[in-house]
Amino acid sequence: MKSLKLAVIGGGSSYTPELIEGIINRIDRLPVTRIDLVDVETGREKLEIVTGLAQRMVARSGLDIEVRHTLDRRDAIQGASFVMTQLRVGGLEARARDERIPLKHKVIGQETTGPGGFAKALRTIPVILDICKDMEELAPDAWLINFTNPAGMVTEAVSKYSSIKALGLCNVPINMHHQTAEALGASVDRVKVNFAGLNHLVWMSNIRLDGKDVTDKVIDMLCDGAHMNMNNIHESPWDPAFLQSLGVVPCPYHRYFYMQDEMLAEELESATSTGTRAEVVQKTEQELFKLYQNPELAEKPKQLEQRGGAYYSDVSLKLVDALYNDTSTINVVNTVNNGAISNLPDDAVVEISAVIDSSGAHPITQGALPDNQIALASSVKAYEQQAIEAAVKGDYGLALQALVANPLIPSAKVAKLILDDILEQNADYLPQFQ
Ligand code: G6P
Repeated sequence: MKSLKLAVIGGGSSYTPELIEGIINRIDRLPVTRIDLVDVETGREKLEIVTGLAQRMVARSGLDIEVRHTLDRRDAIQGASFVMTQLRVGGLEARARDERIPLKHKVIGQETTGPGGFAKALRTIPVILDICKDMEELAPDAWLINFTNPAGMVTEAVSKYSSIKALGLCNVPINMHHQTAEALGASVDRVKVNFAGLNHLVWMSNIRLDGKDVTDKVIDMLCDGAHMNMNNIHESPWDPAFLQSLGVVPCPYHRYFYMQDEMLAEELESATSTGTRAEVVQKTEQELFKLYQNPELAEKPKQLEQRGGAYYSDVSLKLVDALYNDTSTINVVNTVNNGAISNLPDDAVVEISAVIDSSGAHPITQGALPDNQIALASSVKAYEQQAIEAAVKGDYGLALQALVANPLIPSAKVAKLILDDILEQNADYLPQFQ
């Protein structure tokens, strides 16, 4: 068997132990012999702490995997078969600003949707494209597995501006799948589902239990209050009349669009009481890193479950398994549409159920999304495509047009106020706009 090297960029993330656990659990299918955890100078301390824990986890498993940390990204990429990106440009401080700036203008402040996600895309896309340049030179056959948010936009930027093979991932679909199985009281392997849409804007349809269509039943259960949410999103109950006429299951992030007023009110309230999500997570992170430093700790601590990343390692390593072992299994990925959703652009990256083999992702043909879904998906995709171009070119006019196109922004005037705040408060991270 070949030996595999993985490079994890953003290796100092508190999520890394999750990934390490997943690698250890799959060692019979993925012969990983080396993991390079990479971060930047400002993340050095976290990187060293996380690497220590990862090394202890591997030592306890008795496996022969070398875990190293480095600030030299190129050295890590060299010889890697898979490069996993889970970085956050500007850290949680930048995320907190992404959440606060829109709130100041009475607009949803969230790290991936709306203007928060837009600011994150402006900071992140140039960095990911730089990583791709290194990969083109040093590991042109490696796969880029991108978890970095906004995952759909980042993956689309890579597909348009680089020759690297890339797939984007998110843990929302797998969470929805597991929670559906739970609501039905069945094991997850008995429940089959279909996903189509965009990242953090994906709909679940065609739900089957032992082959029998139970989509309407699941919608009824949701109307009756069945749980289907992520840790980091306020769980407002869905309106039954709305959900039943929608006919498919929206993802938790759809609440920002379908319940904009309620979600905004909740965000404004918690921004003054508990703090924004980034501010809450900053505290959780401090506790996590304190635990990670304990030399006795050699497993992923339970407290990591307070973060929104449940099933993170399952999603990424199932995908690596399918690519490496040519399994032709169905995974949900962010990949180029190429006609799979006939009423979205061919070059758009969509989040979709796809057959994965060693040649990549083969999205399952969906036909046209119905009018009620495509209306929202098209406008969000139009925003995303303009925002990606603005991020690459550093073009103020394009950035403004992108924000105006975003359905969470009420007017061109508010878009401009928010854009100016974003550019000012992120100046250090946006050299393309200087
Ligand atoms: C969910 C989303 C991810 C996001 C994460 C944030 O899992 O799908 O895209 O990164 O939540 O969780 P946090 O605990 O940082 O709010």
